[in-house]
Amino acid sequence: MSVSINKITVLGSGVMGHGIAQVSTMAGYTVTFRDIEQSFLDKAMEKIKWSLSKMVEKQKLSQADADKIFARITPIVDLKTALKDADLLIEAVPEDMNLKKKVYVEIDSNAEAKTLYASNTSTLPITDMAALTSRPDRFIGLHFFNPPQLMPLVEVIPGAKSNSGMVTMAMDFCKKVGKQPVLCKKDVPGFIVNRVFIPLVHEAVYCMERDGASMTQIDSAVKFRMSFPMGIFELADYTGLDVIHKATAEMHLRDKKVILPHPKIKQLFDEKNLGQKTGRGFYEYKGDKYERVNLTEQEAATYNPTSLLAVAANNAAWLLTNGVCDRAELEKALKLGMGLKKELFATVQEFGVQNVVKALQDLAAKHGQFYQPDPYLVNYRG
Ligand code: 3HC
Repeated sequence: MSVSINKITVLGSGVMGHGIAQVSTMAGYTVTFRDIEQSFLDKAMEKIKWSLSKMVEKQKLSQADADKIFARITPIVDLKTALKDADLLIEAVPEDMNLKKKVYVEIDSNAEAKTLYASNTSTLPITDMAALTSRPDRFIGLHFFNPPQLMPLVEVIPGAKSNSGMVTMAMDFCKKVGKQPVLCKKDVPGFIVNRVFIPLVHEAVYCMERDGASMTQIDSAVKFRMSFPMGIFELADYTGLDVIHKATAEMHLRDKKVILPHPKIKQLFDEKNLGQKTGRGFYEYKGDKYERVNLTEQEAATYNPTSLLAVAANNAAWLLTNGVCDRAELEKALKLGMGLKKELFATVQEFGVQNVVKALQDLAAKHGQFYQPDPYLVNYRG
């Protein structure tokens, strides 16, 4: 299969959809951008305008180029018109299998025969989603990271029936939009990065309860001692508690061992305290604009994050044991998808592999199977 991609339709105007539409347009593609209500599209176009203005401010773009890029995105509510002549559809609607089913039925009855399908799903099984469509061989997972404008990673996840041309197309597309693809070899819950990230949010809440630590103590330690660019509660708020909650539910449905859900996440979701976008999540914010939490090295020194590191490393080890990716791809994905400033296993070595394994054994004895150390970690010698 050799295809030329010129026109792209992005479906869904949320955090991911608007970012994907923007980076595709910045790479020179013609993009139509579709959602079910004009007001959603208007809000998303405002976000694109803000993001482009930031890039102008940082001299990554000229104002004239930013204006041209903005003008090349066409927001459209009517699905048939939005899909007209599309070479590639990128679906980024909320993470709910029933909703996806409904959406793919609509897409199938409106898309042209040549249109290839990609889903930005973060957790749903690609093979099952592909099976909802008339073209499972021309369907692939293309998982961007938030914010798509700044995060360089895209996970490429083939389904059981995706043809090899789809993998080549996806890899080429990622490079063209300035991203670095990592192939996720198995269609597992959470793929690579979310397998590490989502359980960590829950673990951070357990740490707060079990260790009597504050959010900023934990977050400071995550940032300054585990080499993350943000604290984990800060990142959860930034990602959105709706996204975290839905990803949790889907991952847990697929495999109970993947995650130990803490009820606080569902509680915040039910209360509509979704993080930065609603002004309140774990933390409170002044508005829905980009805002950082004040974290310090002094506070970092007051909390030992070994159990958080242990949970992250254990899930990473699972990916390696199960052949989802190799060590280099894992570290690349964590660096580019979560902004880790140091390799995860280098941090494990710094804390001491024995200490990390011991922390997991102690947690497993008290809190069960989820913490059972993976053989890769137990046998890890650096
Ligand atoms: N477009 C353009 N500029 C943007 C932007 C956007 N969408 N979002 C933020 N910016 C700007 C900010 O306004 C800020 O500008 P300023 O300097 O004028 O204030 C600048 O970019 C960022 O500067 P900061 O000093 O605040 O932040 P950092 O140097 O730490 O970089 C970051 C910000 C890239 C977000 C970094 O903190 C990071 O990598 N965080 C981790 C993000 C992450 O892990 N994402 C993945 C989450 S998991 C996921 O998405 C998967 C999903 O399926 C759940």
